[in-house]
Amino acid sequence: MKILLAGGAGYIGSHTAVSLLGKGHEVVVVDNYDNSSPESIKRVEQLTGKSVALYEADVKDKVRVLKIMQKEQPDCIIHFAGLKAVGESVQQPIRYYRNNIDTTLTLLECMEQTGCKEIVFSSSATVYGSENPSPCHEGMPKGSCTNPYGWTKSMMEQILQDASVADKELSVVLLRYFNPIGAHESGRIGEDPQGIPNNLMPYVSQVAVGKREKLTIFGGDYDTPDGTCLRDYIHVMDLAEGHVSAVEFCAHHHGTEIINLGTGQPYSVLDIVNTFQKVNDVKVPYEIGPRRAGDLPAVYSDAHKAERVLGWKAKRNLADMCRDSWNWQKNNPNGYKR
Ligand code: NAD
Ligand code: UFG
Repeated sequence: MKILLAGGAGYIGSHTAVSLLGKGHEVVVVDNYDNSSPESIKRVEQLTGKSVALYEADVKDKVRVLKIMQKEQPDCIIHFAGLKAVGESVQQPIRYYRNNIDTTLTLLECMEQTGCKEIVFSSSATVYGSENPSPCHEGMPKGSCTNPYGWTKSMMEQILQDASVADKELSVVLLRYFNPIGAHESGRIGEDPQGIPNNLMPYVSQVAVGKREKLTIFGGDYDTPDGTCLRDYIHVMDLAEGHVSAVEFCAHHHGTEIINLGTGQPYSVLDIVNTFQKVNDVKVPYEIGPRRAGDLPAVYSDAHKAERVLGWKAKRNLADMCRDSWNWQKNNPNGYKR
């Protein structure tokens, strides 16, 4: 199949490109490099020995996207193109709503005009909100989000679902990711956050490599086994392989299917720090600080539906995730910037 990855030069898109190419699919990437660089795709090509059709374009630009889709005629789209920083979305809600909603509408309109009927969407566990206790399963009603980023995901899910009700030939898979971490085993591609990382694993890696002095753990007084928050961390290569299964499922399906991509196994912040130090034999100095606004004590998945519907299950463990995150960080201390 030919798959168009909107936002495919980013962290999850570049790893998914490797998995798709490895399975013999063709890959087209459209990205405006708002939070990435073409270097990631260059490395994907080096790793796989295959070429990627790469377009620098804003996915909100309907004229450009339509031309690309008319030329490439993809069988399926994976929509990764989004802004994803929770704190920034509170400061810049209009930019977030404009970018995330508009990219989705543009892709749907271009699909309508070119006859492409399959779309896989990067959603997030955040749509379960604070009302649903973990483990979160796909049958739960969506909850209230605590920030504009989360609301964009919730709204985009609704838009895609409504589109599939109106067009019975449309096949939509909404993938709700839990916490992707890790990197490709080669250490050649990985997560390359701009500025100070918001997320735990890039922060831990940057402390370990000496770029930051110490990690602040946000809250040590939660009602959890060690007092720190529990999350469902998933290796990005497992996540990437989940996309291959979702794309293949999409081809034989109509309507909307919601699927969690997680391991179902919660780990605490201290589990991450301790495992990272142990498997990599490095020090991660830390202190326990105040709680971060909006954090929930425990968010993890019920991962059974993915196994049942997609025949996919995460294979890599926490030690693999910590080892591969470090391998990427130590080999690329400045990310894709040399
Ligand atoms: P990322 O920022 O590395 O990748 C997103 C890519 O989209 C970037 O390359 C960026 O340049 C591109 N992009 C953004 N707006 C665009 C536009 N208008 N036109 C063209 N390209 C555009 O992020 P990621 O971690 O790879 O996440 C991919 C998707 O998964 C995002 O939609 C994100 O919200 C979602 N998601 C990520 C996580 C996570 O923890 N990483 C969790 C849940 C959901
Ligand atoms: N944490 C720290 N110190 C840090 C960074 C994070 O202690 O410097 C803690 C957080 O408090 C949380 C855990 O590490 O307990 C994980 O935090 P992340 O920011 O890595 O991830 P979140 O679970 O907060 O958020 C992630 C994605 C969001 C998504 C959300 C859905 O980043 O995009 O999952 O649950 F919306």
